[in-house]
Amino acid sequence: MFKELWQRRVELIEADLIKELRRTRSLDENLMRAMEYSLLAGGKRLRPILLMSAADAIDGSGEKFITVADALEMIHTYSLIHDDLPAMDNDDYRRGKLTNHKVFGEATAILAGDALLTLAFEVVLRQEDVPPETLLTVLKEISTAAGVAGMVGGQAIDLRSEGVQIDLATLKLMHLGKTGALFKAAIRSGAILAGATHEQLESLTRYAENFGLAFQITDDILDVTGDEKLLGKPTGSDAKNHKSTYVSLTSLDEAKRLAQAAVAEALDALKDFGSESGFLRELVQYLIARKK
Ligand code: IPE
Ligand code: IPE
Ligand code: MG
Ligand code: MG
Ligand code: MG
Repeated sequence: MFKELWQRRVELIEADLIKELRRTRSLDENLMRAMEYSLLAGGKRLRPILLMSAADAIDGSGEKFITVADALEMIHTYSLIHDDLPAMDNDDYRRGKLTNHKVFGEATAILAGDALLTLAFEVVLRQEDVPPETLLTVLKEISTAAGVAGMVGGQAIDLRSEGVQIDLATLKLMHLGKTGALFKAAIRSGAILAGATHEQLESLTRYAENFGLAFQITDDILDVTGDEKLLGKPTGSDAKNHKSTYVSLTSLDEAKRLAQAAVAEALDALKDFGSESGFLRELVQYLIARKK
């Protein structure tokens, strides 16, 4: 049931991403090809799925907000394209394919990232059947999460923590920024779109922060223990770049324990929800067992 729903949603999202790209006029065909290359390369589609699942937990309206969900995947994909660049993590594979800059060159990869980020905001505004003031609230969530107070800010901490000893509090802040912020925006946006109460939004926010933390700790673990074929990206990237990760700053066992603790905390945050939050429960438990 869990896997089937996930798969069905992935198919829905991918078809819709294609639709939104087709609706977009580009002055340059090569740039559009570069955007499409990474956006349609696969991936777990977790952020759009989380947006829909949060709306489902409120009133079952998840699929109605697929357009906003698409926008999150565009922002995420842009962040991956830039994260892989030689000036950042310098990686050659992503989602089982050569990285964007390996195929299109660095300059086009930078522009493809820029264009996906900008397109995301255009796409949010294409969402139908939502009152403008609700859409504005969602835009604020997403733009703040993507920027200096969120994902980009976290990436900046990541870069300045290469090869230096940082404390666990800074590491947590970095994870909550570079990875947690977009997850949080996805979940909060889904909840807001579905008309969540203040209490529901607070609980889902706590779920989201812990989800993000558990997810990135596991990403750090998989960079050490994972299988490149399953992951679709190189392992050993963090060690190569002297990154500060949960594994490098604690140990493999301690990192696993902290991921477990975050999962338990996320589940606790859902205690006032009923069976409608079943998918969110399964999803966070899948995180620690995931191989990709
Ligand atoms: C990878 O994200 C980058 C991180 C935030 C750790 P995902 O593991 O969600 O990547 P895809 O979208 O499935 O490729
Ligand atoms: C980067 O984290 C997350 C973002 C792209 C914002 P990582 O550098 O650990 O992601 P991977 O391991 O390359 O996917
Ligand atoms: Mg990185
Ligand atoms: Mg990376
Ligand atoms: Mg990583």
